[in-house]
Amino acid sequence: MPKIPSAEAKETLYRVAMDKITSMLDGESNEIARMATVSSILAGDFDYFYWTGFYRVVDGVLVVGPYQGTPGCLRITLDRGVCGAAASRKKTILVPDTHAFPGHIACDARSLSEIVVPVLDAAGNVLAVLDVDSDQLSAFDAIDQKWLETIIATVFAE
Ligand code: SME
Repeated sequence: MPKIPSAEAKETLYRVAMDKITSMLDGESNEIARMATVSSILAGDFDYFYWTGFYRVVDGVLVVGPYQGTPGCLRITLDRGVCGAAASRKKTILVPDTHAFPGHIACDARSLSEIVVPVLDAAGNVLAVLDVDSDQLSAFDAIDQKWLETIIATVFAE
């Protein structure tokens, strides 16, 4: 099982990933291409990410988008799961123990902790959420939150 990196090592991993993402996406405006690239780079660079991807808001429901990992649930209503909570509160949610989160949707029982970051458009509407799950407890902290929010804000800036 991959070790959770130290704070310093996480900072370095995120700095490198951020550079790759911004240079690869330079000039690409397609939303799906951007989501696919972000999930591929994050999943490849972070050993403790078990499932990495997006759910897009389509007709008021979260529908699975580009991701890396084991098969994800296809649709999540906004009143369900960590993804639904992050989308309806428009706030990042960190869950140290998914099995203790009321309403957590277990698409894969090996996901033990997770972080979900909402993707907002310029008007503040939720376009999607970035969902990252780990197969270890308490894998995510304020450093993951800061960087994943920065990546999302940069990649989906209007
Ligand atoms: N963790 C999510 C469900 C999606 S999957 O884990 C891929 C949730 O409870 O919202």
